[in-house]
Amino acid sequence: MTTPSARSTNVVFHPGTIGREQREELLGQRGMLIWLTGLSASGKSTIARGLEARLCSGGWLAYVLDGDNLRHGLNADLGFSDHDREENIRRVGEVGALFVDAGLIAIAAFISPFRRDRERVRSIVGAERFIEVFLDVPLAVCESRDPKHLYEKARRGEIADFTGISSPYEPPESPDVVLRTNERPVEACVETVYAELVRRGAVR
Ligand code: ADX
Repeated sequence: MTTPSARSTNVVFHPGTIGREQREELLGQRGMLIWLTGLSASGKSTIARGLEARLCSGGWLAYVLDGDNLRHGLNADLGFSDHDREENIRRVGEVGALFVDAGLIAIAAFISPFRRDRERVRSIVGAERFIEVFLDVPLAVCESRDPKHLYEKARRGEIADFTGISSPYEPPESPDVVLRTNERPVEACVETVYAELVRRGAVR
């Protein structure tokens, strides 16, 4: 799918007088988009919430954009076809870019199964402000966790196009961070991402 901007004609982009740098100075942090990708039940939301808490309790402003949650609102019109997933990620990428421009640390937790869609987000946001985090957890482990019984339903054929079962997942080729949530505790995984934020100069 191409960006549906073709229908917006006669619109002119207005740059503001206050820039990202000023907002970042105000907040004392750098805007960043942390992108958690991985299978359903790989631990994306858990890590996202843990990281959000770790950041906010340390005085850094962070906000989670979660796939399941956004599909209740902004993306409620989208299903799970390849086309709809692409549009889901495109929208979240644009929202993430706005958050980064606002100087916030946005933490996006989406299966985002397609490499091309994630790379598009990276190019919208800018590589230096985008941290791709791959939750590298075997399908068998995710399936054994199955907190929402979705794998069970997918195996029974009650859910179509289920990632890992009847819809593909393309792992990142060179993720910025890899987390094996089945081998390390949540806190350790959160610290690994936090350390990457420090390395990038987003927080101290
Ligand atoms: S994405 O593929 O478009 O990035 P997203 O992260 O927004 O997916 O939503 C995934 C969540 O939707 C899963 O955690 C699961 O709870 C739910 N879900 C419902 N149907 C499916 C499906 N067919 N495939 C994957 N997840 C599904």
